[in-house]
Parts: sequence; structure tokens; C-alpha cells
Amino acid sequence: MSIKGKVALVTGASSGIGAATALKLAEAGAKVALAARRADKLESLKNEITAKGGEALAIGMDVVDPASVDAGVKTLIDAYGSIDILVNNAGLMPLSDIDQFKVDEWHRMVDVNVKGLLNTTAAVLPQMIKQHSGHVFNMSSIAGRKVFKGLSVYCATKHAVTAFSDGLRMEVGPKHNIRVTCIQPGAVATELYDHITDPGYRQQMDDLAGQMTFLQGADIGETIVFAAQAPAHVDVAELFVLPVEQGW
Ligand SMILES: NC(=O)c1ccc[n+]([C@@H]2O[C@H](COP(=O)([O-])OP(=O)(O)OC[C@H]3O[C@@H](n4cnc5c(N)ncnc54)[C@H](OP(=O)(O)O)[C@@H]3O)[C@@H](O)[C@H]2O)c1
Repeated sequence: MSIKGKVALVTGASSGIGAATALKLAEAGAKVALAARRADKLESLKNEITAKGGEALAIGMDVVDPASVDAGVKTLIDAYGSIDILVNNAGLMPLSDIDQFKVDEWHRMVDVNVKGLLNTTAAVLPQMIKQHSGHVFNMSSIAGRKVFKGLSVYCATKHAVTAFSDGLRMEVGPKHNIRVTCIQPGAVATELYDHITDPGYRQQMDDLAGQMTFLQGADIGETIVFAAQAPAHVDVAELFVLPVEQGW
């Protein structure tokens, strides 16, 4: 199924997987709304897409704030009239051991990775239900399938995303003709690790990057385009995408 002319909203589009996915969707012919907080990054990505002949809209959005999400979704519907693809991608991963009690970081992960995803889903679904069509991509992780030491809260948030995706698929597929895909990447080279405040875990991630060739954001973007282009009766419900050298 071609996605030419379809309208996509990508959260966390200012860097990493979100930015690369927006580019891939635009290359495949979709009109892409780029949502995140860093307006300068969104503007330059928008310019890159339009310079290549694509169509894009930059939308300042904080997924934690329902009013910001609702306003962004309204801007998008006013501009393009529909929403066919939602990529719920915004997220963060400040790793630390539980006994360091970085409770603010735990709350931030729950707020962005879980509540932010729910806020965006709640704002977009009514439009998809009205259209009786749509495709929601939820960015989980290998950490949404397994638990790793130092990632307890992050794993909890990504397991929540995996569980929510499966339930959402069961509810909105048969009833509203909306497809749901849960993406579970392994290690991807992005800004995600820059936000780790614990020096030990920060170093561990740098060491890991020296031990294997990480995925690029574009690798995930391509799998999203693949699932979005599947025939209308097919829901690619899960995509578990890893570096070949990631042996865990
Ligand atoms: N990199 C990996 O190895 C990996 C593996 C598995 C899963 N993932 C998941 O992939 C997703 C994207 O991460 P990434 O690796 O591409 O990291 P990244 O480069 O740090 O991108 C994170 C994105 O989330 C956005 N974001 C953060 N807080 C936000 C908020 N409150 N409102 C709106 N946007 C917000 C950031 O934009 P602003 O700061 O401009 O708002 C940024 O665009 C995350 O959900 C992450 O958990 C990553």
C-alpha cells in the first residue's frame, strides 16, 4: 500500500530515530508533521525535507503537556485535514541504579515514555476513528521485552509501551480499522545516551559503541515505512530490530 500523500505525525522528530523516520516517510511520499520541543532542529529538518521535494510541517510540542499535544494535533488537522500515521517516538533513557534514588529521572521517564505516548494517542485516535483508518507506531525497545540492570525504570516504561500497543491493536484493529505496530529496537546511534547523568552507565554506553556497529536511525525509519506500506489487510504488529553484533 503506497503512503504517497498520506499524513504522518512523528513525535521526537528533532533528533535520532524520529528525525530519520520523518525523512524516510517523506521520501516515501508522506506529508510529515515534525513534533518535539526544539523548534530550531524541527525547522532545519523541515527545510531538508522540502529541499528534497517533500512536504513537512514543524510543530512545537511537549508530549507531557496534554494541552500542547491537543494544540499540535489541531494545527496538523487544520493544515492537512487527516492523520494517517502516528509515530509515538519521543522518549528518554537516563540510566542509574535504583539505590541512587534519582527519583526525578524516574518520574521524567514515566511522564515522557508512557504518559506522553498516551497523551498523543488520545489526541490522534479520535481523528483516525472518524476516518475509519490509520496506523499507530509505538516506540518500545528491546528493554520492552527484557529487563537489564540499571535500566529498571526505563524497562518498566518500555514494557508498558509494549503492553499498551498489544491491547490497543486488539481494540482498534477490528473495530476501527486502525493498525498498530510496536517497534523494539536494540542499540541505535542517537542522542539518547547523552542524557545519562550517571558517569558509570554513561561510560558503559560509550564502551558498547566501541564493541559493535550500532543501528542508525534510518534503519528503524525503513522498517516503519515497510510496515506502513504493507497491504491494507496486514498489521505488522511487532518489529524487533537489532544490530547483528548485539548478542544479548
Ligand atoms: N537509541 C536507542 O538505542 C534506542 C533503542 C530502543 C528504543 N529507543 C527509543 O527510541 C525513541 C527515540 O529515541 P532516540 O534514540 O532517537 O533518542 P534522541 O535522539 O534523544 O531522541 C529523543 C527525542 O524525544 C524528544 N522528546 C524528549 N522529551 C520530549 C517531550 N517532553 N516532548 C516532545 N518530545 C520529546 C526529543 O526532542 P526534544 O528534546 O526536542 O523535545 C528527541 O527528538 C525513544 O522512545 C527511545 O526510548 C532508542
